[in-house]
Parts: sequence; structure tokens; C-alpha cells
Amino acid sequence: QTIYLKDYAPTPYRIVSVELDFRILEDSTRVRAQLTIEPREGTAPGTALVLDGDDLKLDGIAIDGAPLMLSAYLADATSLTLIEPPHRRFVLDTEVTLDPAANTKLMGLYRSSGTWCTQCEPEGFRRITYYLDRPDVLAPFTVRMTAPLAIAPVLLANGNPIDRGDAGDGMHYAVWHDPFPKPAYLFALVAGDLGSTTDSFTTTSGRKIDLAIYCTHGKEGECHHAMDSLKRSMAWDERRFGREYDLDIFNIVAVSDFNFGAMENKGLNIFNDKLVFAQPETATDANYHSIERVIAHEYFHNWTGNRITCRDWFQLCLKEGLTVYRDQEFSSDEHSRPVQRIHDVQNLRTNQFPEDGGPLAHPPRPDHYREINNFYTTTVYEKGAEIVRMLATLLGEADFRKGMDLYFERHDGEATTIEAFVKVFEDATGTDLGQFITWYLQAGTPQVTASDRYDADSQTYTLTLTQKVDPTPGQPDKQPLLIPVRFGLLGPNGSETSWTAISGATVRDDLILLDRDSVTLTFSGIANRPVPSLFRGFSAPVKLASGLSQDDLLFLARHDSDPFNRWDALQTVSTHLIAEASAGRRWSAGDTDALRSAVVDTLENSDLDPAFKAQAIAIPGVSAIGRHIGKDVDPDAIAKARLDLLSELAGPIAEKLAALYTALAIAEPYSPDAAQAGRRALRNGLMHLLVAGAGRGDVAAAQYESATNMTDRYAAMAISAHYWTEQAPALLGDFRTRFAGDPLVFDKWLMASAQAPDDGAIERMRAILAAPDFPRTNPNRLRSLLGSFVMSGSPQFTRADGAGFRFVAEAVAEIDKVNPQVASRILTGFRILPMLEAGRREAGRSALEALKSQHSLSRNVGEILDRILAV
Ligand code: ARG
Ligand code: ZN
Repeated sequence: QTIYLKDYAPTPYRIVSVELDFRILEDSTRVRAQLTIEPREGTAPGTALVLDGDDLKLDGIAIDGAPLMLSAYLADATSLTLIEPPHRRFVLDTEVTLDPAANTKLMGLYRSSGTWCTQCEPEGFRRITYYLDRPDVLAPFTVRMTAPLAIAPVLLANGNPIDRGDAGDGMHYAVWHDPFPKPAYLFALVAGDLGSTTDSFTTTSGRKIDLAIYCTHGKEGECHHAMDSLKRSMAWDERRFGREYDLDIFNIVAVSDFNFGAMENKGLNIFNDKLVFAQPETATDANYHSIERVIAHEYFHNWTGNRITCRDWFQLCLKEGLTVYRDQEFSSDEHSRPVQRIHDVQNLRTNQFPEDGGPLAHPPRPDHYREINNFYTTTVYEKGAEIVRMLATLLGEADFRKGMDLYFERHDGEATTIEAFVKVFEDATGTDLGQFITWYLQAGTPQVTASDRYDADSQTYTLTLTQKVDPTPGQPDKQPLLIPVRFGLLGPNGSETSWTAISGATVRDDLILLDRDSVTLTFSGIANRPVPSLFRGFSAPVKLASGLSQDDLLFLARHDSDPFNRWDALQTVSTHLIAEASAGRRWSAGDTDALRSAVVDTLENSDLDPAFKAQAIAIPGVSAIGRHIGKDVDPDAIAKARLDLLSELAGPIAEKLAALYTALAIAEPYSPDAAQAGRRALRNGLMHLLVAGAGRGDVAAAQYESATNMTDRYAAMAISAHYWTEQAPALLGDFRTRFAGDPLVFDKWLMASAQAPDDGAIERMRAILAAPDFPRTNPNRLRSLLGSFVMSGSPQFTRADGAGFRFVAEAVAEIDKVNPQVASRILTGFRILPMLEAGRREAGRSALEALKSQHSLSRNVGEILDRILAV
């Protein structure tokens, strides 16, 4: 059954306050809830009160202390209805018993390696007690926990600890109170035997906040990077947005079974442990970076998500898009802004563009869903962040900040909407954003086409930009968007060209407002034909067909003052060459010579930083090129053309690459800082070219042996596996035994194994999954193997004989019985089917049809299947 935004209505009753009492025992947990409830103004006497439940069994029920007659309520697994509640404030008292150890869905209260923990967003709280489980019902919570002291000495919940003590019989208790009214999805509780790392942070106004990160005993030493990231996040939110933390204590708990990255529960963030633990021997630079980013993200939710939350789940992007924008800005301020931007755009193009251009396309603010868990998507998160970024671009930094200030002032304590968010910027700056809001409501990536003409006689330059959005499921007709195009015109010597006048469209400084299907601008006073640099810094999430020749693109790659476009120009050139060659139109030697010399110039340019160079010399992957081609894609043909290009680029300069590689070795002890990580990234990029283009599997094998940190060791193994070098099987074998017993490193082995392109790959993966000790209920393990198999463009997933599709579909059917969220996430990998050539498309469809014929699929998997099969 489908839920529609247009059906939104507030609940007839409000929850005034919540008291929860958890009695946690080894084999079951009893939950007593005392909810103070009252009718809202306008609610007619006798209106039924319907509370949500999921998999609950009611043990007892009373109102104001008096047990209810059987005729006064209806209770089943998914709801509790009070047929005629009192027409005044009353206390509803219910009791249920839970079995956290059996909760493999990892929503609600569950056990992870012995620790009791919770995940409630979006609809997990109803698996703990009957409740109005929706984000617009806010209440202060008081939580009492009683548990065996021996196995659960640590008892945590939201807010501040107000009492604790002995409860007799080896039990103890703790009471926590959270004064900030919150929706149930922000509830959290943790009970277990945990170690901790502690610190403190003093806010600008002088309040001292106690910080702690809890984890399995023995891992405390691996939490320092997370703690440091937290303190820097707290300082940054004060500096950049004027936001101080509001409680006296902030706790983070790392758990090893978690459905996604982390959760922003008020004052008690719960994290997937892979986003907390780091030490140089087992975590990569990329891991360090994600830890910092996600710690920041969850912390920033305290204001954008918790103090101001969502009215309903259609508004998810209100908190997620905005908070991703904030974490991206944090990373940019803490490290290199251009490198961060390239990183974020690459992520958007790799993950969001295929979603937006395929059967799972939906607006950042959807208007219907069957299963809300299927809408925690890259469109809501990353495209949502791009929309906020465009707002900042359009308004300018100062006015954007004014709007944000008004947002915090006007909506603090509320559950609100995208419309209200956009309105604060209108009100704070007097700007009409009526057209801008369409970005939230319309799915699909706009395609912008540029064409230009230079007239030497009149010294005028004319630039035409047109926009078009293809139909997406349920949205056949599209409106023109307001697209900010940051631009410059490069003169013959590579510097910016100035002009005397512009006509034809709105231009503000270096920003063109493309607000119709097509705009044409005429620049006068231009002495020479310029090369346009469009969408600098990727000023809008669009696909650009610039119409530029390879010469012009390589000119931009050398001279553009905008680092993003320098990088993008190189990517565009290699994408074109590979795409054309895969269709039988092979490049000329001149094309590859020119590209190679631009790459060499980039490598030798001492003004560019190594992290940027690493990004610039990377050759786009098979899936990126497939997306560029867009239809009737044959991944094997692309892979072959890509390897050819790599050989032509790297072969003739192999010695130079090897010399640069050697010179970049780092003698100092490992540090994850941007400078060192940048050098490592460049060195590993060079290794990549040597392995892929110059047959130097030995370089990777030697690096694997001599590596003193995981970044270098993992890169060596993963690249060897990816190109299936002679040494690859031995490296994989060594890695597995060398790090046996560390689950997060096992994940790296699973990811590298999933990339192997050889025909034995699927059999090996089947064997891994079937091994008796494979932890088949752990999301990290499953995602590392199957998630990376479907998402990383392995040629084995898209095998022409369909074996890859069948393997994944069968695995999804099994996983669905244990954890529907993990299953449906893996299944989304099939969204590429419509763009594949007919044979593979049909093979993929029949694997999905077979999956669909299974009975009792979850709503999560059922919805994704239907949406993919509908196209
Ligand atoms: N709010 C969390 C975050 O962005 C993620 C919750 C994800 N929930 C889900 N059902 N996928 O940090
Ligand atoms: Zn978030």
C-alpha cells in the first residue's frame, strides 16, 4: 500500500511526555511505557487513537492506572487502537516483551555482539513500544533502564543522566532525561559492557561538554581520530553557523551490526564501528576521511534534524540534504576545497546520476512511497546537498547565512517542511525562489547543451545554453529549472577574458542564470575567440554537453583557473575516447599523444597539489563510461577499450611514471593529514597506471609486501585484484590470513574479492557466502561482498550469460529473510538494467522475475523489484 504526501494530516492526539521503563534480561526485555496524551484542539470526543506497533505483543494496558476492558481497545502486531479515549489529558500505560537477540532486522531494540542497542529512524520505535511513531509528534522522554550489572555495566540513553543505583539481585538501574522534545525516531538506548574514550569541549559561551565514545573493550585506542573529528566539528558549527551544542554531555557508541553508517539520536549517536575505529595498520586514508565526515554529519544533525526536524518522511531531504551540505563544507574548510569538491561530485555522478536516470528516479522530496526505508537514497542525501549548495551560490555566502539564521530562529523546536525551509531564504533576502523549489519536486538530471559562435569582425561572442530533463517514472513532463552556471571565458593565453557588455540573459558577476529552456548571451568587446569554462566548481548537478573539441578541453585542463573544470576536462577527454573506441571508432595516435602530454604536464606542474594530481590522472571506470554512453551498453567492449587507452597512455611513459612513483615514497611515520594522504593517493594513482597500462603487476606486489600502512597495502591488493594480475591470487590469500580475526579488515578483503574480473569470481563468492563461519547477519560483511559487487561495475555482475544477475538475485532472496533493508539496498544495483544491451537486459530481467516469484518478499524488496521491472 502506498503512502501519499497529499494525505498528510496531524494526529488527533498529542503526546505530552513519555516515561519508559526497560527491564533488560539476558533472554528478553520488558518495556513499560507511560505516555501522557491529550486530544489536540478540534479533535471530536470519541475519536479513536491509533498507535503504531510492529511485531509487538501487548502484555498489559491501563489508563490513569485502571486496566482497560477488552472492549476498549484493539491490539495486533502493527497497531493499538483505543476505541474511545478520554477527552482530556490522560496517561496510557502499556507493557510489551521484546526478544532483542532475535531481531535480525536491526530496527528497534537489538543485540550486537552482546550489546543492547537501538535504531529507530525511520520507523523502528514502533518495534519497541506502541506509539505515534512519526516525526511530527514531539515529546520529552524520561528513560529508566534496569539490567544485570555483570553484563551491562554501561547504561546510556538520550539527554542527561539523573539517577543510578543498585536494583538488587545483581541488577542495577540508570535514569536518563532528555528535556528537548523529540520525535521517537531520535530515541536511543545502549546497555552493555563497553570501554570508552573521554574528552571535553568548551563552547564559545563557556559551557563545558563531556564527550565520550563507547566501544568494545580493547578498541578505545582506535577512537582518537573520531574524538578529534568530533571536537573539530563542534568548533566548526560555532564558527560557521553560530550553532552551539545544547546538552551537557554528548555520547557516541560504536556497534558492529548496523544497517547503515550512523544515527544522530539526541545526545547519543550510534555508529557503525567501521566509521569510528581507525589505526594506520588497518584503516585507509579514505576510512579516516569518512570517519571525520560522518562524525561531523551526525553531530551537525543536532541542529539540522534534531532541534529542527521533519514534519513527515517526505521531507527527509530537509535534514539530510542540508546536513550533507554542512558536512561537505566542513570537509572543505578542514582540508582542500577543490579536492573535496571533486570527490563529492565524483560520488554524485557515480551513485546519484544513475539513480536519477534510471527506474528508481525520484524527486529529492518524493510525494509517495511504499517503504520509507527505500528513500534514504543518494538523491535525497547528495542531490539534496547540491540543491542547498545552489541556494548558497545563488544568494551568496552572506545572504545564505542570513537565511540559515532565520531558519534556526523561526523553526527551532518544530517539525517542518521543504517549503518552510525555502521560505526563510525568501524572507531573509527578499528573493523569489518560486522556480528554484522545483529542484526539490522534480526528478531527473538536467542535460545542458552549450553551443557558441565567435565573430571576429564584430568582436562578439555568442553562447547558447539549453536545458532538458528526460521523463522519469511518474513524471512525464518537466519544468525548466533555475540553473546557476558559474563561468569564465579563457583567452588565448589561458587567462580570463573580459568583455564590455553582455545581453540576452541574466548574468550576475560570474553567474549565468539559466532559467528557461534556452538562453542566448552575447558578449561584446572580445578580441579573440575564447574557450568557455562552464559550471565552474560544478555549480549545478547537471550533465553538460559542452560541444568543446578535445583541443579546447585540453586547453582548459592546462589553463583554467577553476581546478574542478581542469579535472573535469581531462575526465571528459578520456571518457570520449573510450566511449568512441568501444563503438568501433578508435582514436588516432594524435588524440592519445595530446592527452598523454596533458597528463604529464599535470603531473609535472609544481603548483598543483598531489591530491589534485591523483584525481586528475585517474581514468574513469567502466560504469562511468557506460553511463556516458547511456544505452545498449556492452561493458566488456568498454572494459577492453579502457585497457587499450590505459596502455597507450601509460606504456610510452612507464619509466617516468615509475620514477615519480619511487620519488613519492613517504619516509615519515603515518599520518592521515591531507598532505600525506595526498602524496599516497598520487603514488597509488601512479601504481594504478603502471599496473593497468604497463603490465607492472610486480610494482603492486612489491608495494603490498613493503607497505607499513593499510592505505598502501589495500591499494596494492585491490588494484591487483581489479586487473587480475598474476600476483593477485597470492596477495588476496596473504591478506586474508595476515588479518584473520579483524572483521573490518575482512570487509576490505571481501571488497577486493568482489572486484576480481576473472570467470572464477562468482564461484569464489558463492563459496565465501556458503562458508559455515560467514557472518550472514552482519550488514557490513554482506555489503562489502555483494554491495561492492553490484555497485562497483564488476564485469562479472553484468556477465552476458546472466550468471552474475542470478547469483545476486538468489543472495537477495536469502538476505531478505534476515534483513530486508540490506537486501533491498543490494537489489538497487539492478537499476542499470535499462541501459544495458538487449541480451544482458533480458538476462537481468529474468533473474528479477525469478526473485519476484518467491513468496513473502519484504515490502522493501517488493517495492524496489516492482519499480525496476516497471521500466
Ligand atoms: N539519519 C541517519 C543519517 O543520515 C541515517 C538513517 C538511515 N536510515 C535508513 N533507514 N536508511 O545519518
Ligand atoms: Zn544524516
